Amino acid sequence: MKKILVTGGAGYIGSHTCVELLNAGREIIIIDNFSNSKPKTLDNIKKITNKDFKFYEGDYTNRETLEEIFKNNDIDAVINFAGYKAVGESVQKPLEYYINNVTGALTLLDVMKKYNVKKFIFSSSATIYGNPGTTKYVESMEIKRGTSPYGTTKSMIEIILDDLYKSDNTWNIVSLRYFNPVGAHSSGIIGEEPQGIPNNLMPYIQKVASGSLSELSVFGDDYDTPDGTGVRDYIHVVDLAKGHLLALNKLDTSDNGLYIYNLGTGTGYSVLDIVKTFEKVNNIKIPYKIVERRPGDLACYYADPTKAREELGFKTEKTLEDICRDSWNYQKNILNSD
Ligand code: NAD
Ligand code: UD1
Repeated sequence: MKKILVTGGAGYIGSHTCVELLNAGREIIIIDNFSNSKPKTLDNIKKITNKDFKFYEGDYTNRETLEEIFKNNDIDAVINFAGYKAVGESVQKPLEYYINNVTGALTLLDVMKKYNVKKFIFSSSATIYGNPGTTKYVESMEIKRGTSPYGTTKSMIEIILDDLYKSDNTWNIVSLRYFNPVGAHSSGIIGEEPQGIPNNLMPYIQKVASGSLSELSVFGDDYDTPDGTGVRDYIHVVDLAKGHLLALNKLDTSDNGLYIYNLGTGTGYSVLDIVKTFEKVNNIKIPYKIVERRPGDLACYYADPTKAREELGFKTEKTLEDICRDSWNYQKNILNSD
């Protein structure tokens, strides 16, 4: 069977997607340099699925490493998760972000072209919509320059993919625009484990729940939203991972194309909705204080999930309760295994 190459497969979304791919009977190869993940995750993917796969420890920006992989394996498609993703850090280190995300994607695509592998799935982000002045984001809306170098790498790669497909319609590409991925696998052995103090909401709540941080700062309660706090479209990472399987099926069964899909639930929840649900399902108090708005934050946005539903058959199954339960389950497991 031809194999799916997964770059960044040891990471948060990559590991959950590898589980879904293996469970669906796909054969995979992972390349990761562990810049933001741990080797143990690979063992845990095997534990969950009871399946094995080939792994290359290496940098996907390195042409020689990629050539070795493509020369020695029969690859059908590539899912590209590898890249840096910390918004704040990207402002401090723009070159590192452009090199890892943009040069990496370019090198990968160029090597794919050489070996005539033209099915590609890209991890894009809702950040490419910028600040469009509306709350429900539809794929037909214009791509904007990001509000950070990280965001701009995603916009740039989407533009590159557009030019690439226009130049050669034997490419078959899906770009998936993720909203806010959260939660963890129900086994509790893979999930998101940010280094240091988290910037994102759910990892921060997890640390407050575990007692390693004392309270959550809620960034503003004077937005034009039902309770005044920011509203986002939080999608369970397992639902998100399944979206990649559907995208792969699309590439297998459709005419060549450049297909773009939002992956979100279509429902927005506020910061306080998340806090209250986390408290309720896990029976843990999350102390919080209201502070100033975080610069650059928008009041409210969520996905229009219609296109992914109609063309991929994508439908999220997990609830906000599942998200909060699974996030805490994973965090407890990390604490117990330390
Ligand atoms: P992650 O950091 O957990 O996973 C990325 C993986 O890529 C890590 O295992 C890391 O070690 C690896 N990696 C990074 N640079 C590499 C390189 N040069 N060579 C080989 N491996 C490398 O991130 P994630 O949350 O799983 O995100 C996956 C993708 O989805 C990223 O491209 C990210 O930008 C995108 N995305 C993430 C979110 C989110 O909120 N998590 C939202 C939108 C888009
Ligand atoms: C952020 C990034 C986005 C990235 C996404 C990954 C910015 C501006 N955007 O989105 O590019 O794709 O992460 O998931 O950084 N909040 C608090 N207290 C906290 C943390 C967050 O109140 O300690 C609030 C925020 O104001 C926001 C919501 O929680 O309303 C979600 O924040 P976060 O998890 O950081 O995600 P985004 O800002 O939506």
